[in-house]
Amino acid sequence: MKDKILKQILLGVVLALVSVAASWAQPETIVIKNPEVFKKVQRPAVTFPHERHLETLECLDCHHRYEKGKNVLEEDALEEGNADIRCANCHNQDSRLGLRHAYHRLCTGCHAKMGKAGQKTGPRMCGGCHIISK
Ligand code: HEC
Ligand code: HEC
Ligand code: HEC
Ligand code: HEC
Repeated sequence: MKDKILKQILLGVVLALVSVAASWAQPETIVIKNPEVFKKVQRPAVTFPHERHLETLECLDCHHRYEKGKNVLEEDALEEGNADIRCANCHNQDSRLGLRHAYHRLCTGCHAKMGKAGQKTGPRMCGGCHIISK
């Protein structure tokens, strides 16, 4: 009995540490810019409130690496500076889904879906994400 309780407490501590580590491993806000892809930028840069999205979402809702249609990305790979996890690493001119559409489908796609369902969500209009800075 005592053993079992102790085990549960230990497990709780481990889980708490894991979630703290996960929240450290990710940036708070990201200015999304891909000048190597969008050589002639048409819209103002997008400031993406990354952390804000983590209250209700899982890392793998957005980050992925597909194998045979399954998302097999390990969360350990989600580290700052890891170029492999960057969208532009895979969504390039050779991929079926180019970078601009990849972003729009992920970002606007989710906001639109949640908006339709009447849930609190992010912007769908161009100017809601591509904000002209003063
Ligand atoms: C709502 C979508 C979304 C969720 C949820 C999300 N991310 Fe991200 N994350 C992004 C986008 C978009 C980028 C920018 C990618 C790029 O620049 O190509 C990013 C970038 C990152 C980067 C920076 C990579 C670099 O360029 O250095 C890290 C680290 C990261 N995410 C970790 C995480 C972790 C850990 C979680 C879960 C706790 C998480 N993310 C959840 C969308 C998301
Ligand atoms: C390791 C490579 C890789 C990375 C990194 C990656 N993707 Fe993908 N992504 C794919 C593959 C492969 C598919 C599925 C096949 C396809 O559509 O090309 C896919 C599918 C998608 C889809 C779904 C397409 C649909 O039909 O519904 C969206 C949206 C998307 N990616 C956006 C992003 C965004 C935004 C990022 C950055 C946060 C990102 N991807 C990072 C490889 C990647
Ligand atoms: C799977 C769903 C989902 C995806 C994917 C997603 N978002 Fe959001 N977004 C949300 C939700 C939910 C909120 C509302 C969060 C809140 O206000 O607590 C939000 C809020 C926002 C806001 C407004 C924050 C504020 O201060 O009011 C911006 C800007 C935003 N998202 C940009 C983006 C961008 C850019 C991407 C793609 C890189 C993205 N989102 C991807 C669900 C999503
Ligand atoms: C939910 C957020 C969001 C919304 C809404 C949105 N975008 Fe984007 N868009 C992005 C992100 C993120 C990128 C990638 C930015 C980058 O890498 O420079 C992007 C990239 C682009 C690009 C390519 C880069 C450039 O500036 O030339 C164009 C063009 C663009 N968007 C136009 C639009 C238009 C037009 C609308 C409205 C119909 C729109 N976007 C709505 C998030 C959004």
